[in-house]
Amino acid sequence: MIYAHRGASKLAPENTMSAFELAAAAGAEGIETDVQLTKDNVPVLIHDENLRRTTNGTGFVQDYTYAELSLLDAGSWFSPKFSDISIVSLDEFLKWFKHQPMFLNVELKTNVIEYKDIERIVYDSLKRNYVLDRTVISSFNSDSILRMKEINPSVKTAFLTSTNRRDLVAYAKSLRADALHVKHRLLDKKLVKDCQKSKLDLRIYTVNRPTMMKKCYKLGVDAIFSDVPYEALEYRQLYHK
Ligand code: G3P
Ligand code: MG
Repeated sequence: MIYAHRGASKLAPENTMSAFELAAAAGAEGIETDVQLTKDNVPVLIHDENLRRTTNGTGFVQDYTYAELSLLDAGSWFSPKFSDISIVSLDEFLKWFKHQPMFLNVELKTNVIEYKDIERIVYDSLKRNYVLDRTVISSFNSDSILRMKEINPSVKTAFLTSTNRRDLVAYAKSLRADALHVKHRLLDKKLVKDCQKSKLDLRIYTVNRPTMMKKCYKLGVDAIFSDVPYEALEYRQLYHK
């Protein structure tokens, strides 16, 4: 399966409605997005804790209310033609997403800044919008994965990592995770086998180069995250075993 990473983030500013709509139009089966919390505890879709890179604001997401963040320009950094685009909340996004025949991966960005109750807040939003059955919640933060399963053991979770460790599969299992989301350079045949044996789904990020797409398809991973989902779809037709 192909998840559009932060939406179709090569064509439009990442984690904005434009990028999500382009992902759907391209035929991606899923969308991956990153969540942080505002000062008034609204989950918003933005990758960095700091506003500098992807908006015309400064400082940290957690120091502004959602109303304040909505006034920022979240598109001009990418191209002047996206200057009217703003940061979107998870709820606003889900109003659109719930009508799309797609899967969702919500990544909780709670490793640099640990947001209190982010798991409960995100869970409630997903439940309210009836998308839990097609959503996987991931995080680099192990505690966050554990807390999600405490809220509801049937929620699908994934442990995210870019670091190799010998006991990776066992570690993910110890967190009761349903999947492993790993950086592409960690992918090899043994990892695919070990995940299959342990009934863990294996998804790979961020797969933008044709050689890596080919490797993923040949090894038969469960999904990839790509900034270029339209290209990933074309290569899948060629190489999927
Ligand atoms: O969820 C996969 C991937 O998005 C993790 O890394 O930094 O792109 O959020 P990052
Ligand atoms: Mg992410």
